[in-house]
Amino acid sequence: MNKNLKILLIISGGIAAYKSLELIRILKKNNIKVQVILTKGGEKFVTALSVASLSEEKVYQDLFSLKDESEMGHIRLSRENDLILVAPASANIMAHTAAGIAYDLATTVLLASNKPIYFAPSMNVEMWNNPITQKNIKTLKENNYNFIGPESGSLACGEHGNGRMSEPEKILKYIMETNKKKINLNILVTAGPTYEAIDPVRYLGNKSSGKQGIEIAKAFQNLGANVSLVLGPSKENVPSNINTINIQSAKDMFEAIKKIKNIDIAVCAAAVSDWKIDSPSKNKIKKSDTDKPKINLSLNPDILYYLSTNKKNRPKLVIGFAAETEDLIKNAQEKLNKKNCDWILANDVSKNPEIFGGDNNSISLITKSNIEEWNTITKKEVAEKLASKVIESIEKN
Ligand SMILES: Cc1cc2nc3c(=O)[nH]c(=O)nc-3n(C[C@H](O)[C@H](O)[C@H](O)COP(=O)(O)O)c2cc1C
Repeated sequence: MNKNLKILLIISGGIAAYKSLELIRILKKNNIKVQVILTKGGEKFVTALSVASLSEEKVYQDLFSLKDESEMGHIRLSRENDLILVAPASANIMAHTAAGIAYDLATTVLLASNKPIYFAPSMNVEMWNNPITQKNIKTLKENNYNFIGPESGSLACGEHGNGRMSEPEKILKYIMETNKKKINLNILVTAGPTYEAIDPVRYLGNKSSGKQGIEIAKAFQNLGANVSLVLGPSKENVPSNINTINIQSAKDMFEAIKKIKNIDIAVCAAAVSDWKIDSPSKNKIKKSDTDKPKINLSLNPDILYYLSTNKKNRPKLVIGFAAETEDLIKNAQEKLNKKNCDWILANDVSKNPEIFGGDNNSISLITKSNIEEWNTITKKEVAEKLASKVIESIEKN
């Protein structure tokens, strides 16, 4: 376990703020340095004096503090800590963060942060179930914010349901689990489809949404890796803290990858078009009743093969994806051998057409010596499982 974590704890205005005092105590007991921001709401529930006594640190409350801001305290507080934990997280602070509003010290630090952020929400069940709160949470999750709880049970207001802040022990366990070790690896992830221009308005493309690859980039980013995401045209949200290179065609993707130095792990989740149009028309091809346009195709560069056979700088692990409509395992094994990559994540898209753009995936992980089935799980879970398998394999070798 990482015993030298530094946490910036934001205590916002919820009745569960009293539990945050216990949280500070057990974080400190685990050798974690805790700096605290107390919001205007938070101040009503716990005193700065209790927080300062338990954390043995100065408590931050004011954005426009001449003393703290003479050294840009709102930036420094995020930079000098490993992560930000908002506990309790009020409906209010999550709504402001989801909307990108920075109106006090806590919300400004959250917006200016480049570190992982964890919310431990606490509120009345109706506040939690309110579609606006749920919409804010969805937005936050899409932007790579982490959530611990809430739990279901009897609430301080006398009602019953979802909205209890997780117990400090559970919050500590989650934080320790997800921050075990920062991995010092350069990860390349490719994602999304590629578009091969036919003319300025038409293209040859495919149904890939980019979701699975983006989740993989997020999973590695959350482990502290240095991630480069090369992304084809995708409508999915990518968190702003992921270094993303947007491309259109397979050739663009290839050129972008060649520029990335020292790749330790390559995860090629993009659905790269095998073919490109030989000579795309400079102008829109006009419809004609007599002539059918002829489209000649030629092969695109094979990116997976290029990475796997790169003698000078081959990544330690090259991982490909295979979307198959028949003979899943046989075809995926053939791809593994032909491309000389290390692992293939294969999925049968004929059985599960909703894999394209959906939230779930069913994967067969194929290595040179093994086949492992990951039955239907979310794309986020696939990504987290893959990331921890990669780390395990790197540590073993
Ligand atoms: C007695 C009391 C208890 C409250 N408990 C909660 C709570 O558990 N969760 C929550 O989201 N808001 C709760 N609120 C409302 C927040 O304190 C309010 O939205 C405040 O503006 C939050 O400010 P902050 O997010 O800047 O801390 C409570 C208010 C009162 C008066």
